[in-house]
Order: sequence, then C-alpha cells, then structure tokens
Amino acid sequence: MSTPNLSANQIRATFLQFFKDKEHKIVPSAPLVLKNDPTLLFTNAGMNQFKDYFLGYQQPASNRVADTQKCLRVSGKHNDLEDVGMDTYHHTMFEMLGNWSFGDYFKEEAIAWAWELLTDVFGIGKDQLYVTVFEGDKEDGLEKDEQAYNFWKQHIAEDRILNGNKKDNFWEMGDTGPCGPCSEIHIDIRPKADREAVDGKTLVNQDHPQVVEVWNLVFMQFNRMADGSLQPLAQQHIDTGMGFERLCMVLQGKTSNYDTDVFTPLLDKLESLSGKQYKGSMEKGDIAMRVISDHIRAIAFAIADGQLPSNTGAGYVIRRILRRAVRYGYSFLDFSEPFLGKLVPVLANQMGEQFPELLKQQEIIEKVITEEEKSFLRTLDSGLKKLEAHHGNISGEEAFELYDTYGFPLDLTMLIASEKGVTVDEQGFNKAMTEQRDRSRKDAKVETGDWTILKDGNTAFIGYDSLDAETELLRYRTLNQKGKNVYQLVLNETPFYAESGGQIGDKGSLQFGDQSIAVYDTKKEGDLIIHFANELPNALDAKVQAKVNKQRRIDTENNHTATHLLHEALRRVIGDHVEQKGSLVSPEKLRFDFSHFSKLTDEELEKVEKIVNEKIAENISRKVEQLPFDEAIQKGATALFGEKYGDVVRVITFDDNYSVELCGGCHVSSTAQIRLFKIVSESASAAGIRRIEAITGQEALNYYKEQDQTVHKIASLVSQNKNLVQSIEQLIGENKDLQAKMSRFHEEQGQQVKQNLKQHVIEQDGISFIGEVIDIESSDALKNIAFELKNEIDNLVFIVGAEINGKPLLTIMIADNVVKEKNLNAGVMIKELAKQIKGGGGGQPFYATAGGSDVNGLQTAVEMGRSLVLG
Ligand code: SER
Repeated sequence: MSTPNLSANQIRATFLQFFKDKEHKIVPSAPLVLKNDPTLLFTNAGMNQFKDYFLGYQQPASNRVADTQKCLRVSGKHNDLEDVGMDTYHHTMFEMLGNWSFGDYFKEEAIAWAWELLTDVFGIGKDQLYVTVFEGDKEDGLEKDEQAYNFWKQHIAEDRILNGNKKDNFWEMGDTGPCGPCSEIHIDIRPKADREAVDGKTLVNQDHPQVVEVWNLVFMQFNRMADGSLQPLAQQHIDTGMGFERLCMVLQGKTSNYDTDVFTPLLDKLESLSGKQYKGSMEKGDIAMRVISDHIRAIAFAIADGQLPSNTGAGYVIRRILRRAVRYGYSFLDFSEPFLGKLVPVLANQMGEQFPELLKQQEIIEKVITEEEKSFLRTLDSGLKKLEAHHGNISGEEAFELYDTYGFPLDLTMLIASEKGVTVDEQGFNKAMTEQRDRSRKDAKVETGDWTILKDGNTAFIGYDSLDAETELLRYRTLNQKGKNVYQLVLNETPFYAESGGQIGDKGSLQFGDQSIAVYDTKKEGDLIIHFANELPNALDAKVQAKVNKQRRIDTENNHTATHLLHEALRRVIGDHVEQKGSLVSPEKLRFDFSHFSKLTDEELEKVEKIVNEKIAENISRKVEQLPFDEAIQKGATALFGEKYGDVVRVITFDDNYSVELCGGCHVSSTAQIRLFKIVSESASAAGIRRIEAITGQEALNYYKEQDQTVHKIASLVSQNKNLVQSIEQLIGENKDLQAKMSRFHEEQGQQVKQNLKQHVIEQDGISFIGEVIDIESSDALKNIAFELKNEIDNLVFIVGAEINGKPLLTIMIADNVVKEKNLNAGVMIKELAKQIKGGGGGQPFYATAGGSDVNGLQTAVEMGRSLVLG
C-alpha cells in the first residue's frame, strides 16, 4: 500500500482534496439532527441534505460537491444499533465521505474516479477489490444495470463484478423519495493465504468482518412515490457514500475500525478510567469498551447539534443510546459513577479541527452527559434493587416495566435473572413492547399522499416586507392524520413565513375567487413552503390572493427582534459563553434557551432587561444583508450550531456594535416598534441550560396594566393610607398577633371542653365511658383531648363526635388494658359507626377516627357506640 501511515485526519483531507482537484466544491457536513424533514429524525446518509436537488425542488449553487457527513443510523430504515460493539465495523454515528453530481457527471466518471482514488491515490490492491451492480428487478420493471457493468469492465476484471439484488443494489432513502440502482465497492482485507484458500467473491455481502463494503455509488434516477411506483427524475445525479471509519481501517492496515486512530484515543481513556485493558476480544469488557467508544460519538455530536436527551422523538433516541452506554459501563467495567462525560475532551481534541462545534461546546456537552448519567445511575440502582427483591421468574410485564420505567434493556434484565437462577418471559416482554410500539405508531400515524403537481416551479418567499400577494397554486397533497384529512398547498410566491429558526409559521387566508380558505399553519419541508388548510380550493387554477394575519405577524416580529436583543444583552451581562440552545418566537411570547451554569440573579435579570429596553428606546433601524458565509462570520455575526447555512447568508443587524446574527426570520424595521420588553420567567431547562421567557409590545403593556390594577385593588382593600407596603406589613403583624391569640383561645377552649367531658364520665363494668357530641374548633384539638384523657382517666372508652368546618368527625380512644380485657377495637368499631355519618375511617385498636358527609348522624353514631360498649 502506498500510503501506510496516514492518520484519520489525513485520510479525510486526502479524499476532499482529490475531489477538489476534480472541480468539486467542498461543503461542510449538515447537522446530525434534521430540521424541516418530517420523514427522518437524524441525518442517516450524506444525501439527506441534497434531497431537494435530486427531486428538482431546488437548484444547487454548484453541481459538483464533496463533503464528509456526520450520520446516525439508529432508527427507521437504516438502523445498525444492535450490531455496534458486537462486530468491528458497524457504528451508530459515522462519517460518510461523499462526492455528488447534481445533473452533471454520471456513472462513467463516478466509477472512474472512485477507482482512481482507491487504487492510485490510496494504493489499495486491485486484487482485494470487488464491485457489485444491480441485477434488475421484475416487480419494479427494471433491467440489469448494463451501463455500470460496462464502465466497471474498463477498470476491473469481469469476474470481480458481481450481480446484486434490489436489497443490496437499489438504494432508497426511506419509503418514499429519491432512489436508484447502485454499485458497491467491497474490500477483502484477509491475509493473502486466506484469500487464496477461499475466494473473496463468495464472501461479499455475507457479513464477513474482513470482506466489507467500503463505498456505495448511487445512480439517482427515480422518485419512489407513496403508492410504491417509480417516477423517473428530470435529471440524473450521483450520490456516493464511503464509510470513513472503514476506509481508515483498510488504509491503516487494521482488521477492526476500533484499532484505528478514530477510536484508539477513546479506548485508551476508557482503559485508564476503568483500570482494565482493551484486548479487542468478544469478552464482555471489550464489547463494553467498543460500545461506549462508539456511543459517546453519537451522543456528543447530537448534543453539539442542539439535540438534548429527552423523553420523546430524537431526544429519546439519544437518551436510549446514552443509557445503553452507561449500562455497559456499569455492568462490565464497574463504573458506578459518571464516566461518559470524561470522554468528551478526548473526542473534542481528536475531532475538533474538522468539527469545531465539539471544541466550542465541550463544556456544555460534558455537563449534559454527566447529568444524564447521574440520573440514570439513580434509576439503574433502584431497578437493580427491584430485581434483587424479586423472587421467582420474571414476567414479561415486569421486564417491560424495568425497561420502560427504569430504562433497563432486556439483556440486562436477563443477565441479572440468570445470576439469580430465574428466567425472563422474553415473549411476554416482546408482546408488551410491540403493543407499546403499535400504540405510539397509531398515535403518530400520518399518511402522506403524493403531490398533485399543477405547475412546475419553486416557491419564492416574498413575505419579509409584504403581507399579501397575488399568486397561484403549484401543487397540493392530502395528509391523513388520525383519520382526518388536511391539505398541504404550495404556492408560486408566498408571503407566509414557514416555521423555522424558532419563529412559528404564519396564519392567514387564501382567497380563491369567492372561496376563502383559512391557513392554520405554515411549515417547511426542505425548502418547500407548505400551507396547511382544512379544505381544498374548488377552482385549482384560479388566481390566489394570499393574505397573512397582520397583527400576529407584527407581534411575532416584536418577539423575534427582542430575542436578538436579549441574546446580546445576556452575553454582555453574564458572558461570552452564552450560546443559543433553542428558541421559540410566537406572537404571544418569546422563549430563549441558552448555555449557562447557574441561575441568573435578580440583579442580572434586571440588567439584561434594562439593556434590551434601552436598545428599544434607541430606535435602531434594521439592516438586512445577504453576505457570503465567511464574510458574515468575519464581521462577527453569530451563527448557531446545528443549523444548516448556505453559501450566502442573511445577516440581520441592529447596530453594528450590538447585534449581528445570521437569521432567516422576520424582524421589526426599527426597534421602537417593540415598545417594551419584560422578562416573565427564568428557569432551568436542562442541565447547564437556562430558559428565559419574555413578552413585548401590547402583551408587556397589558402585563404592567394588570399589575397596576392589582396594586390599586390591594390599596383600596388595605387602607386609605398612601404607603401600601407599610400598610401590608402592619396587616401581617396584626394577623400574626391574632393568630397567636386564637391559638391560646383554642387551647383554653379545649381545656374547658375536656373538663366538661370529665363531668360526664359513666362508670360501668370497669369501664369509664365518655360518649358526647361536642363543639370544638379543629381536629387537632379533638385529638389532643382524646390523648390527654387517656392519660388522665383509667379504663377509658371515649367516643366523641364533632362538626369541624361543616364536616362530621368521629374519634374513638380506648385504654390499652380495655382493648385487651374487653376485646374492644376502635379500628373495627369506627367502621361501623362511620356509616351513620355517611363516611369511612380506620385506625388502630386503641385509636381511630372517621370523617363523613352527614353531620346529622353524629348523635346516632355516638349512641350506637354507647350501646356497643355498655350494652
Ligand atoms: N446514499 C448512499 C448511502 O447512504 C450513498 O451515499 O449509502
């Protein structure tokens, strides 16, 4: 091999340089967490971010592109989670190196360049390579890919070109979307002797750890429609994806991805933290180390891109991966304290150059992970305790409860069960699991129809400055949500802002001739702007008058600009480490999440609020610029991690020396329009992340007005005196005195009642019986009397009723010796008597109480008690 000593970072750089030399534009990885794509939670292939180019919805700035894309394959059609750690080459998060042609070059060049890079540049032996081509598929009416076969023939011996079926050689992103036949390149890294003994070609696609797919060249030609049919695309495209970690394994002469410098720094750290040695075996400890060093990458990259662990959706996937890693560490590496977070600095150091989001956010990522670990370690322990206390076999429901409530994967439950010599009802577990999945699937079930295209074209958003437009319908489709139809409409031009960057979508109306259709939301799918409506227009080809609800939009703009002003004010008051971690901009309020480790003090909040209001008062004009990304960043514009930015970005400035942000949202033309800014709450939103909620404009004015009215009301209630605070302090003082007097009074009253009761003792059969209905203020007072009398009178049986706050209360107290000697039981007796007051109660043999709803029954209850005791 001509390049034996390349590090992972050099291998990546060589790939990118190779395609740069072939006139490809190098673009950054899109975020791992997808926004604006309802079909996927995470980027699972390099092509996700280019989907709209393939479908012709959007034109790329350059028709040749290369990149390395962060991918996560843990859910949906592409899911490798279960294989991770068990083999040497599957990962949750991995990098996919790709070169792309959007309607430019096709099979011939894609094949020739892949071959040149692998064999000439990287020096991989031609006798170690195999390629596959699509054999055709009857069901889809597709022929064998002869074209690809013929191009391959020019580079590689024909007996190394293998046919592949639809499963392996027809690439699809999901159930619908762009797809096409593909050619995979497989590499055989077995020792020469093994290669001679068993022909590598028989091992291709057989899950052999040393005969693996390394690169997939997809020839994008079709769009898979919702009804399963294939529609040819207007242009043909190239999408290639090479597994970076596998390439490193090959080029560094290793037989496991984990032995490359992509993973060794993480494994070294795990060794030093656990005091155990990694031997690359199939022993539990080694599997655990592989799983952990894989999972930490997925977790850290997802958090860096803004996806915090949570209980739903993408956040839950991250939490599950994290818990899986913690469990492996706890069970097999004896980590009972948080350890995953400690790997973050190693990862940031190793990958921070290519992915600066890791370096910049190292501290917060570490903090979030450590907090998550702490909380799982708490439930992990209670789950274990629950299992320890459990005797006998473990039912499916119990295993499922452990899984669902304590976050225990089934295999952990089974391991512990086998140590205890009991079994787990796996089938029952799977049944409970399927039921839950079905339930959630049903809840989430949205059936999307195909687009009906009326006219070709792209939507242009024209709503920054105008809120209505005459436009036309380009396409529509039906969406069935839980049995109800809604419609998605796409217009040629639209003033409706589609939800993004935290700003919620516009509402308004679409006027088709006489018919007015309400738009209840606007969202994006890729770059398509979709209007949500409950009905379809009758005349599909009529001109449309699109009109955005103006007041809502103005209120939203106030809150969006205020969010920018707040962001900078926070940086000035609490520091530069403040990173935006989420935001919601609606007409009613704004919500801003940011990284900061402690609660903001009242003084800090006051300062922040003051700065924002000063900026409002300065009436700063909005400046909007379209700038090349790099220029905007040089200008000091704030960009957010986890956002995908184009080459040219929109920069919103309110004072060059104050707030400069990359932003696609809607803003006031000058700040005085906001009128007023008021913070209404500050709280923790997650570990290391604070949340501020604030209001502006009319909402803020209303807020102060309400406060003012409340103060006036209080003033008129408490005194004529102008000094409100003094008056209230005085009232509180008086109230305290009164309460003290009241409790002394109650005590005296109690003593009197007690003395009275003592006068009415009936002595009979060695029992001192008291049975009365009395006046008393509280149940505590009654209880005290009962206990005091028990000490003061021998052989006491006390059955007393009282009305307290309109409700009947019965109390029975019996001297301990009477309980024994006379076989009386207060707890039993009270149940009987309580019926008279339409209530229930209970207690011990010597003391019991009952409440009820009918005070008229008190006297009868006491009488009944008397006859039970005295006969
Ligand atoms: N889309 C193909 C894959 O993900 C090639 O990039 O494998």
